[in-house]
Amino acid sequence: MKGRVVLYTGAAGGLGLDTTLLLLERGASVVAIDNDLTKVAALQAAAPKKGNGAKGELIVSTADLSDLAGFRATLDGLIERAGGFDVVINNAAIYPSKPFEDYLIEEHQAVQRVNVDAGIVAVQAALPGMRAKGFGRIINVSSITLSGGWANLSPYVASKMALVGLTRAWAREFGPYGVTVNAIAPGAFPTDAEKIHPDPEGYNRMVLDAQSIKRRGNAHDIANAIAFFASDESGFVTGQTLHVNGGWTMN
Ligand SMILES: NC(=O)c1ccc[n+]([C@@H]2O[C@H](COP(=O)([O-])OP(=O)(O)OC[C@H]3O[C@@H](n4cnc5c(N)ncnc54)[C@H](O)[C@@H]3O)[C@@H](O)[C@H]2O)c1
Repeated sequence: MKGRVVLYTGAAGGLGLDTTLLLLERGASVVAIDNDLTKVAALQAAAPKKGNGAKGELIVSTADLSDLAGFRATLDGLIERAGGFDVVINNAAIYPSKPFEDYLIEEHQAVQRVNVDAGIVAVQAALPGMRAKGFGRIINVSSITLSGGWANLSPYVASKMALVGLTRAWAREFGPYGVTVNAIAPGAFPTDAEKIHPDPEGYNRMVLDAQSIKRRGNAHDIANAIAFFASDESGFVTGQTLHVNGGWTMN
């Protein structure tokens, strides 16, 4: 990954932090977008400093993805500074949980804005540079929830399926430019995203029963999958969704 520049939304989150560290270790520079100041501080503390063991540079922006025009302006500035993005990882997400009838349409739209529309903005900003180079990797982080529905998460599930649709449409359209597009669908990982479940012990049991592999997934499992799609080695794989879920659902 030496010399590659990665744009990574939600990079300071439960799954993002380890992946960011792995990409830095492999020589990439990572432009991390995350508006949680506490998590960003933890990422900055964990990342090795360039010239002090690190091969790539960590650049952080606390832009709010729900402000799409502001995000685009931030990206244009970052492209000037970093010289374009070779890899885009659309990972940031919000995941409100309640019965379908209780969602206002504005709440539904707010989920699509962060989970899907910000990814569209990121790809629109990055694509001209990728086309010019004849190289690009786009990775959309989806979810196991689209494989089995999932109650009380309808805006989130809709957003995660939309990302799979975009993955396929973009893969077809950008393939001729040397740009691959793939999705990762994580299973259940013990991060903040899991705190929406009211009975943690029961949930843990349910997950282990459902999985073929009888341990909980960890952030390294996701980091390794993302690192593959981000690498030069994955160049003949595009339009796919990789389910990293311990053999819970099988596709
Ligand atoms: N953890 C799981 O079990 C699980 C399962 C399936 C899918 N996923 C997906 O994996 C991805 C990462 O999830 P995670 O577990 O690391 O969750 P997380 O909440 O720890 O990470 C998401 C990150 O996105 C950032 N973010 C959210 N809204 C933002 C905004 N408006 N502007 C800027 N940043 C914003 C948050 O600050 C957070 O750091 C998400 O797309 C999630 O849907 C996670």
